Amino acid sequence: MSSTLHPDGKLNPSQCVSNDSGNTSILDLIEQRQLTRRGFLRGSLGATAGVTASALFGCAVVDGLTNYANAAPASAGGIGFTSVPPNVAPMSDAVTVPDGYSARVLVAWGDSLTHAPHWDPSRPMDEATQLHCYGAHTDGMHFFPAPGRNNSRGLLVTNSEYVDPPLVNDIAPAKDYAAAAITLEMVRAQQAGHGVNVVDVQMGRDGNWEVRRPSGFNRRITGNTPCRVAGPAAGHPLMKTAADPSGMQVIGTLNNCANGHTPWGTYLACEENFNGYFGTDAPLTPTPHEARYGLVAGGFGYRWHVADERFNLAANRNEPNRFGWVVEIDPWNPTSTPVKRTALGRFKHESAGVVVGADNTVAVYMGDDERNEYVYKFVCAKKLDPKNPAANRDLLDSGTLYVARFGADGRGAWLPLVWNRNGLTPENGFADQGEVLIKARQAADRLGATMMDRPEWVAIHPSTREVYVTLTNNNRRGSTPTSANDAGGKTAAGSARPVVDGANPRPDNDFGHILRWREDGGDLAATSFEWDVFVQCGDKATAKTLPANYNPAGHDGYRGNIVGDDYGAPDGLWFDRDGRLWIQTDQAGDAQGDWVNIGGNVMMCADPSTGETRRFLTGPRHCEVTGVVTTPDGRTMFVGIQHPGEDWTDTFTDNSTWPDSGVNGPTTTDGRVSKPRSGVVVITQNNGGVIGT
Ligand code: FEO
Ligand code: CA
Ligand code: CA
Repeated sequence: MSSTLHPDGKLNPSQCVSNDSGNTSILDLIEQRQLTRRGFLRGSLGATAGVTASALFGCAVVDGLTNYANAAPASAGGIGFTSVPPNVAPMSDAVTVPDGYSARVLVAWGDSLTHAPHWDPSRPMDEATQLHCYGAHTDGMHFFPAPGRNNSRGLLVTNSEYVDPPLVNDIAPAKDYAAAAITLEMVRAQQAGHGVNVVDVQMGRDGNWEVRRPSGFNRRITGNTPCRVAGPAAGHPLMKTAADPSGMQVIGTLNNCANGHTPWGTYLACEENFNGYFGTDAPLTPTPHEARYGLVAGGFGYRWHVADERFNLAANRNEPNRFGWVVEIDPWNPTSTPVKRTALGRFKHESAGVVVGADNTVAVYMGDDERNEYVYKFVCAKKLDPKNPAANRDLLDSGTLYVARFGADGRGAWLPLVWNRNGLTPENGFADQGEVLIKARQAADRLGATMMDRPEWVAIHPSTREVYVTLTNNNRRGSTPTSANDAGGKTAAGSARPVVDGANPRPDNDFGHILRWREDGGDLAATSFEWDVFVQCGDKATAKTLPANYNPAGHDGYRGNIVGDDYGAPDGLWFDRDGRLWIQTDQAGDAQGDWVNIGGNVMMCADPSTGETRRFLTGPRHCEVTGVVTTPDGRTMFVGIQHPGEDWTDTFTDNSTWPDSGVNGPTTTDGRVSKPRSGVVVITQNNGGVIGT
C-alpha cells in the first residue's frame, strides 16, 4: 500500500535450447519426477535437493539478466501503441490496455494450483485451502523460462505481499476487524496468504496462457515456511529467540513487496513492511532500534499477536530482527529452503536490482521504502563464475553494503556499512558486522546518507548500465531550512523532516519522481557516481501550487515535467530487453483529490532516450498496479493487479469485484460469489508483436 494497515552468468543464448514447439521435453519428465517425489519429501524441507531443471541444464534460466557485454542492444523501436485514457470517475472496474492488445486474467487469489477445487470466495479462507491456492496481493514477479520452451512455458514467480484480513476472515464491514475476536485459525489463514507463489504457466493450445495444475513445480512459500538464515547476521545474538536458539532458522517470510532475480537462476523476494505484523497488548517502550524500524505496540492492525505468540512483541523482542531481509529462492527446486541473505542488510526492502558488470562484478541495488529512508548498493566480494553455476550459489553472503549520499552537484558517493569503520564501532552500538546489518538504518544514519522521498523499485537499463529508482512521494519533507516544519536531523522513524535537496527537490512531494545514476567508469564497484532527476511526476492540469515560502530552482511544482501522459506516485519499475521503461503507480486509486485528472493506478511506458511517456494500462478502481515481466521474446507480458477495492474504512460506495466483475474474465463460471481478488493479467498484442511496439 499503499496501505499502511495495512545460469548462470554471461551466457550466449545460442548455448541454450530455444525450441518453442511445445513438444514433450525433459522438463516434463522432471516435473513428473517431482510430483512422485514430493509425497515423501514433504515435511523435510531442504533436506534433499531434488532433480532440478536448473541443475540439469545449467543455462535453463537465462533471461537477459546477464553480462552487459552480452546484453541486447537498446531498440530503436521506441513506443508504438496509442495511449489509453485515464480511469477517472465514475471509475471502471476493468483492466484497460491499448487498441490491438488483449488483457486476460491468468491467476487470482484463491485459484487452485493443484487438482483440488478453487477457493469459494463466499466463504472465509482457511489455511489448508490457502496452502494449495494462489496467494493474496500480488506484487513483484519474474518469469523463469522453461528449457526448450522459452516463450511458451515457464515458472511465473510472484510475491504475495500482504492480505486484507477482513476479506480473508470474511468480516464485514471491514472496519469491524479492529474489534473482532481473533483466533489462531484466522491468523494462520492470513499467514498462508502471504509469501511467494511459484506457478507453472504455459501457452495453451488455444494460444491463451494458463496455469498448469497440478504441476510438480507449483509451490506456495508462506509466512510459515521454514527459511535458513545466511550471511554475517546468521546466528547473531540479536537473531536468537526462545523457539530458535541457533538464530539460524526463521519461520516464514512476510510482506514480500518487490523482487529481483539472479544470473544463477534464483528469485529474490524482498521483505518490506514487516514491522506491522508485530504488536502487543502489554505496555511497550520501544528501544531506539525498535523505534527506528517502526515497531509499535499496535502494529498495523493485523492483531496477530492476540492469537500467535510469535508476533507478541513484548514477549519476543528479537523476532522482528528476523524479518526485513532479502530472501533467495530456487524456483526450479520445489523442496529447496528459502534463504535470508543478511549481507544485503535489514530494512524495508522494496526491490533488489541485480546487475553483472563487464568484469563479472555482481551488484545489487535496493531501496528502503519509507519516507526519508535510503538507497543502498551491495557489491559481492566474489565475481560471477559463468562456467560454474554451483560456485555462485552463495555469492550474496559476502560483500560490501553501501548507502547512497546524493550531493547537490550531481555527484554521489557510496558509503560503506563496514564494522569498525566510520563510527560503526562497539561504543556506538555496533558490536560486529552482524549488528551493523541488523541495524542497517542506524548505521546508515551515522554515515550521513541522503534521506529520500520513499525509494521504491530499482531498475537497470539493459545496455547503458544506468540505474533508475522510483521515489514515490513524501509528505515529510520541509521547504526551506527556516520553515517551522523543519526539525532538521533524524530523531526517530517517521519524525524526521529533512529539507529539500537536489535529489529530492520538492517539499510535500505528492506526485513523486524518478532518479537515475551511472557509476563512475562504468564500474559496479565504484564508490562514486553521477546522478540526475529523470522526471518529476505531476498533473499538468492541477490548480495546486507549492507552499508560498518555497521557491528554489530545480523543481517543477505539482505540474511536473512529464513528456506525454501524466501520472504520479511511481512505484513498480522495470526495463524490458529493448530498453523501454515500464512504470507502475501506487496512489489512492480513487480518482479523487490530487488524482481527479490522473485517475486510478496505471502502468506507463517511457522511452528513456526521448523521455516520452504513454499510458499503457489502467487498473480496476482502488487497485494498485504491481509487478511486471515478459517472456524473453517480449511478446507476452505479465502484470500484477493488487488490492482491487481495498477499503479498510468502508467508505467506498463503488467497490471493486475485479476480476469476478467479468470485465476481464470471468476467471470462473461456477457461480462463486464475488469478492475483490488480487491477481495477474497476461497481456499480448493481437498481432503477436512485441509488447510496447
Ligand atoms: Fe510494497 Fe513500497 O510498496
Ligand atoms: Ca506499494
Ligand atoms: Ca511497491
